Amino acid sequence: MSALKKMLFSSIGKKYIMAVSGLGLVGFLVTHLAANLLLLTGNPDLLNGYGAGLKSTLGPLFYPAEAALVGLFLVHIILAIYINVAGKKAARPIGYAKAQRGKGGESKFGLAGSNMLITGGLLAFFLVVHLWQVRYQVQFGSKFRTMLNGEQVGDLYRYCDEIFASPLMVVFYVGVMLFLGLHLRHGFWSAIQSLGAMKPEWSKSIHALGLIIAILFAVGFLIIPIWMHFGMAARLFQ
Ligand code: HEM
Repeated sequence: MSALKKMLFSSIGKKYIMAVSGLGLVGFLVTHLAANLLLLTGNPDLLNGYGAGLKSTLGPLFYPAEAALVGLFLVHIILAIYINVAGKKAARPIGYAKAQRGKGGESKFGLAGSNMLITGGLLAFFLVVHLWQVRYQVQFGSKFRTMLNGEQVGDLYRYCDEIFASPLMVVFYVGVMLFLGLHLRHGFWSAIQSLGAMKPEWSKSIHALGLIIAILFAVGFLIIPIWMHFGMAARLFQ
Protein backbone atom coordinates (compact mmCIF):
# COMPACT_ATOMS: atom_id res chain seq x y z
CA MET A 1 0.00 0.00 0.00
CA SER A 2 1.36 3.42 -0.93
CA ALA A 3 1.91 5.99 1.83
CA LEU A 4 -0.96 8.12 0.52
CA LYS A 5 -3.34 5.14 0.43
CA LYS A 6 -2.27 4.16 3.94
CA MET A 7 -2.88 7.69 5.19
CA LEU A 8 -6.34 7.90 3.55
CA PHE A 9 -7.42 4.54 5.04
CA SER A 10 -6.14 5.43 8.53
CA SER A 11 -8.57 6.90 11.07
CA ILE A 12 -6.87 10.31 10.76
CA GLY A 13 -7.16 10.06 6.96
CA LYS A 14 -10.88 9.34 7.21
CA LYS A 15 -11.40 12.31 9.53
CA TYR A 16 -9.44 14.43 7.06
CA ILE A 17 -11.71 13.36 4.19
CA MET A 18 -14.77 13.99 6.38
CA ALA A 19 -13.50 17.51 7.04
CA VAL A 20 -12.68 18.28 3.40
CA SER A 21 -16.02 16.87 2.14
CA GLY A 22 -17.89 18.77 4.89
CA LEU A 23 -16.24 22.06 3.97
CA GLY A 24 -16.94 21.30 0.28
CA LEU A 25 -20.62 20.86 1.17
CA VAL A 26 -20.57 24.19 3.02
CA GLY A 27 -19.27 25.69 -0.26
CA PHE A 28 -22.23 24.15 -2.09
CA LEU A 29 -24.60 25.56 0.56
CA VAL A 30 -23.22 29.07 -0.01
CA THR A 31 -24.17 28.98 -3.72
CA HIS A 32 -27.42 27.13 -2.99
CA LEU A 33 -28.55 29.67 -0.42
CA ALA A 34 -27.57 32.59 -2.66
CA ALA A 35 -29.62 31.12 -5.53
CA ASN A 36 -32.62 30.27 -3.34
CA LEU A 37 -32.77 33.75 -1.87
CA LEU A 38 -34.01 34.75 -5.36
CA LEU A 39 -37.29 33.14 -4.28
CA LEU A 40 -37.77 36.05 -1.87
CA THR A 41 -38.16 38.53 -4.75
CA GLY A 42 -41.43 36.98 -5.92
CA ASN A 43 -40.14 37.12 -9.52
CA PRO A 44 -40.26 33.54 -10.91
CA ASP A 45 -37.97 34.40 -13.85
CA LEU A 46 -35.00 35.01 -11.53
CA LEU A 47 -34.71 31.51 -9.99
CA ASN A 48 -36.00 29.76 -13.13
CA GLY A 49 -33.49 31.73 -15.21
CA TYR A 50 -30.67 30.88 -12.77
CA GLY A 51 -31.51 27.14 -12.95
CA ALA A 52 -31.66 27.15 -16.75
CA GLY A 53 -28.58 29.42 -17.02
CA LEU A 54 -26.50 27.10 -14.83
CA LYS A 55 -27.39 24.16 -17.05
CA SER A 56 -26.49 25.93 -20.29
CA THR A 57 -23.30 27.50 -18.85
CA LEU A 58 -22.00 24.16 -17.60
CA GLY A 59 -23.15 22.41 -20.82
CA PRO A 60 -21.82 18.83 -20.93
CA LEU A 61 -20.19 19.36 -17.52
CA PHE A 62 -23.59 19.77 -15.80
CA TYR A 63 -24.24 16.09 -15.10
CA PRO A 64 -20.64 15.28 -14.07
CA ALA A 65 -20.84 18.28 -11.69
CA GLU A 66 -24.09 16.93 -10.22
CA ALA A 67 -22.52 13.47 -9.89
CA ALA A 68 -19.53 15.02 -8.09
CA LEU A 69 -21.91 16.76 -5.67
CA VAL A 70 -23.79 13.52 -4.99
CA GLY A 71 -20.39 11.83 -4.48
CA LEU A 72 -19.41 14.48 -1.95
CA PHE A 73 -22.62 13.90 0.04
CA LEU A 74 -22.16 10.11 -0.14
CA VAL A 75 -18.51 10.18 0.99
CA HIS A 76 -19.44 12.44 3.90
CA ILE A 77 -22.41 10.31 4.99
CA ILE A 78 -20.71 6.91 4.59
CA LEU A 79 -17.58 8.02 6.44
CA ALA A 80 -19.67 9.59 9.22
CA ILE A 81 -21.44 6.27 9.76
CA TYR A 82 -18.17 4.36 9.61
CA ILE A 83 -16.27 6.64 12.01
CA ASN A 84 -19.12 6.95 14.50
CA VAL A 85 -20.38 3.40 14.50
CA ALA A 86 -17.77 0.87 13.36
CA GLY A 87 -14.52 2.82 13.83
CA LYS A 88 -15.45 4.39 17.15
CA LYS A 89 -16.18 1.11 18.89
CA ALA A 90 -12.90 -0.39 17.80
CA ALA A 91 -10.76 2.64 18.56
CA ARG A 92 -12.34 4.17 21.65
CA PRO A 93 -14.19 2.02 24.11
CA ILE A 94 -15.38 5.08 26.07
CA GLY A 95 -16.53 7.08 23.07
CA TYR A 96 -15.22 10.24 21.48
CA ALA A 97 -17.49 12.82 23.14
CA LYS A 98 -16.88 11.37 26.61
CA ALA A 99 -13.13 11.23 26.03
CA GLN A 100 -13.06 14.88 24.95
CA ARG A 101 -15.10 15.95 27.96
CA GLY A 102 -12.48 14.38 30.17
CA LYS A 103 -9.84 16.52 28.49
CA GLY A 104 -11.71 19.75 29.15
CA GLY A 105 -13.40 19.82 25.76
CA GLU A 106 -16.91 20.23 27.23
CA SER A 107 -17.77 23.51 25.57
CA LYS A 108 -17.27 22.05 22.09
CA PHE A 109 -19.51 19.08 22.79
CA GLY A 110 -22.84 20.51 23.79
CA LEU A 111 -26.12 19.61 22.15
CA ALA A 112 -24.66 20.04 18.65
CA GLY A 113 -21.51 18.00 19.23
CA SER A 114 -23.07 14.94 20.80
CA ASN A 115 -25.85 14.68 18.21
CA MET A 116 -23.93 14.90 14.94
CA LEU A 117 -25.14 11.47 13.77
CA ILE A 118 -28.76 12.30 14.58
CA THR A 119 -28.71 15.74 12.93
CA GLY A 120 -26.74 14.29 10.00
CA GLY A 121 -29.22 11.41 9.65
CA LEU A 122 -32.13 13.86 9.59
CA LEU A 123 -30.36 15.93 6.95
CA ALA A 124 -29.78 12.79 4.84
CA PHE A 125 -33.49 11.95 5.11
CA PHE A 126 -34.35 15.55 4.18
CA LEU A 127 -32.07 15.33 1.14
CA VAL A 128 -33.92 12.29 -0.22
CA VAL A 129 -37.31 14.02 0.18
CA HIS A 130 -35.92 17.34 -1.12
CA LEU A 131 -34.29 15.89 -4.25
CA TRP A 132 -37.43 13.90 -5.02
CA GLN A 133 -39.38 17.14 -4.75
CA VAL A 134 -37.22 19.75 -6.45
CA ARG A 135 -35.30 17.61 -8.93
CA TYR A 136 -37.42 14.58 -9.83
CA GLN A 137 -40.85 16.27 -9.82
CA VAL A 138 -39.71 19.38 -11.70
CA GLN A 139 -37.49 17.55 -14.18
CA PHE A 140 -39.77 14.64 -14.99
CA GLY A 141 -43.22 16.04 -14.18
CA SER A 142 -44.77 17.93 -17.11
CA LYS A 143 -46.76 20.13 -14.68
CA PHE A 144 -43.87 22.31 -13.62
CA ARG A 145 -42.56 23.60 -16.94
CA THR A 146 -42.66 27.19 -18.11
CA MET A 147 -41.42 29.30 -21.01
CA LEU A 148 -38.52 31.70 -20.45
CA ASN A 149 -36.98 33.69 -23.33
CA GLY A 150 -38.61 31.31 -25.84
CA GLU A 151 -37.26 28.20 -24.13
CA GLN A 152 -39.01 25.61 -21.99
CA VAL A 153 -37.46 25.49 -18.50
CA GLY A 154 -38.29 23.92 -15.12
CA ASP A 155 -40.67 26.12 -13.11
CA LEU A 156 -38.72 25.91 -9.85
CA TYR A 157 -40.40 29.01 -8.46
CA ARG A 158 -43.97 27.74 -8.86
CA TYR A 159 -42.96 24.35 -7.49
CA CYS A 160 -41.47 25.91 -4.32
CA ASP A 161 -44.53 28.15 -4.08
CA GLU A 162 -46.78 25.07 -4.15
CA ILE A 163 -44.68 23.13 -1.63
CA PHE A 164 -44.62 26.02 0.82
CA ALA A 165 -48.37 26.61 0.56
CA SER A 166 -48.61 23.59 2.88
CA PRO A 167 -48.11 24.47 6.58
CA LEU A 168 -46.82 20.93 7.12
CA MET A 169 -44.04 21.43 4.56
CA VAL A 170 -43.15 24.79 6.11
CA VAL A 171 -42.82 23.15 9.52
CA PHE A 172 -40.76 20.31 7.98
CA TYR A 173 -38.37 22.67 6.18
CA VAL A 174 -38.03 25.06 9.12
CA GLY A 175 -37.37 22.15 11.50
CA VAL A 176 -34.73 20.67 9.21
CA MET A 177 -32.99 24.06 8.82
CA LEU A 178 -32.70 24.27 12.63
CA PHE A 179 -31.02 20.85 12.59
CA LEU A 180 -28.80 22.06 9.74
CA GLY A 181 -27.71 24.91 12.01
CA LEU A 182 -26.91 22.51 14.87
CA HIS A 183 -24.98 20.25 12.50
CA LEU A 184 -22.93 23.12 11.04
CA ARG A 185 -22.26 24.62 14.44
CA HIS A 186 -20.24 21.67 15.59
CA GLY A 187 -19.23 20.41 12.12
CA PHE A 188 -17.31 23.55 11.17
CA TRP A 189 -15.28 23.54 14.39
CA SER A 190 -14.65 19.82 14.07
CA ALA A 191 -13.50 20.12 10.42
CA ILE A 192 -10.95 22.81 11.25
CA GLN A 193 -9.76 20.66 14.16
CA SER A 194 -9.43 17.54 11.96
CA LEU A 195 -7.44 19.43 9.34
CA GLY A 196 -4.95 20.36 12.05
CA ALA A 197 -5.46 24.01 11.18
CA MET A 198 -6.41 25.06 14.71
CA LYS A 199 -4.03 26.55 17.21
CA PRO A 200 -5.30 26.16 20.80
CA GLU A 201 -5.68 29.93 21.10
CA TRP A 202 -7.95 29.98 18.00
CA SER A 203 -10.37 27.43 19.42
CA LYS A 204 -12.81 30.00 20.84
CA SER A 205 -12.80 32.13 17.67
CA ILE A 206 -13.34 29.10 15.41
CA HIS A 207 -16.17 27.99 17.66
CA ALA A 208 -17.73 31.47 17.44
CA LEU A 209 -17.26 31.48 13.65
CA GLY A 210 -19.03 28.09 13.50
CA LEU A 211 -21.92 29.58 15.44
CA ILE A 212 -22.16 32.56 13.07
CA ILE A 213 -22.07 30.26 10.01
CA ALA A 214 -24.74 28.03 11.57
CA ILE A 215 -27.06 30.96 12.28
CA LEU A 216 -26.55 32.50 8.83
CA PHE A 217 -27.40 29.25 7.01
CA ALA A 218 -30.27 28.21 9.29
CA VAL A 219 -31.93 31.64 9.23
CA GLY A 220 -31.14 32.24 5.54
CA PHE A 221 -32.80 28.98 4.49
CA LEU A 222 -35.68 28.87 6.97
CA ILE A 223 -36.85 32.35 6.08
CA ILE A 224 -37.67 31.14 2.53
CA PRO A 225 -40.59 28.75 3.32
CA ILE A 226 -42.04 31.20 5.85
CA TRP A 227 -41.73 34.11 3.42
CA MET A 228 -43.37 32.20 0.59
CA HIS A 229 -46.10 30.71 2.78
CA PHE A 230 -47.24 34.15 3.88
CA GLY A 231 -46.86 35.66 0.37
CA MET A 232 -44.45 38.30 1.70
CA ALA A 233 -43.11 39.23 -1.75
CA ALA A 234 -46.63 40.13 -2.96
CA ARG A 235 -47.26 42.13 0.23
CA LEU A 236 -43.99 44.05 0.05
CA PHE A 237 -43.16 44.43 -3.63
CA GLN A 238 -46.49 44.50 -5.51
C1 HEM B 1 -35.57 26.46 2.15
C2 HEM B 1 -34.57 25.69 1.83
C3 HEM B 1 -34.31 25.17 0.44
C4 HEM B 1 -34.93 25.45 -0.75
C5 HEM B 1 -36.10 26.38 -1.02
C6 HEM B 1 -34.26 24.67 -1.77
C7 HEM B 1 -34.60 24.67 -3.11
C8 HEM B 1 -33.99 23.92 -4.09
C9 HEM B 1 -34.30 23.97 -5.49
C10 HEM B 1 -35.34 24.90 -6.12
C11 HEM B 1 -33.49 23.08 -6.13
C12 HEM B 1 -33.46 22.74 -7.65
C13 HEM B 1 -32.35 23.54 -8.32
C14 HEM B 1 -32.26 23.26 -9.81
O1 HEM B 1 -32.78 22.25 -10.27
O2 HEM B 1 -31.63 24.09 -10.48
C15 HEM B 1 -32.68 22.44 -5.13
C16 HEM B 1 -31.73 21.46 -5.39
C17 HEM B 1 -30.93 20.90 -4.44
N1 HEM B 1 -30.93 21.19 -3.08
FE1 HEM B 1 -32.10 22.54 -2.13
N2 HEM B 1 -33.25 23.94 -1.20
C18 HEM B 1 -33.25 24.20 0.16
C19 HEM B 1 -32.38 23.70 1.12
C20 HEM B 1 -31.42 22.75 0.86
C21 HEM B 1 -30.49 22.23 1.84
C22 HEM B 1 -30.42 22.67 3.30
C23 HEM B 1 -29.71 21.30 1.19
C24 HEM B 1 -28.58 20.46 1.74
C25 HEM B 1 -28.42 20.11 2.97
C26 HEM B 1 -30.15 21.25 -0.18
C27 HEM B 1 -29.61 20.41 -1.14
C28 HEM B 1 -29.95 20.42 -2.49
C29 HEM B 1 -29.28 19.61 -3.50
C30 HEM B 1 -28.13 18.63 -3.25
C31 HEM B 1 -29.89 19.92 -4.71
C32 HEM B 1 -29.54 19.32 -6.10
C33 HEM B 1 -28.38 20.06 -6.68
C34 HEM B 1 -28.81 21.32 -7.37
O3 HEM B 1 -29.66 21.24 -8.23
O4 HEM B 1 -28.27 22.41 -7.05
N3 HEM B 1 -31.17 22.14 -0.35
N4 HEM B 1 -33.00 22.97 -3.90
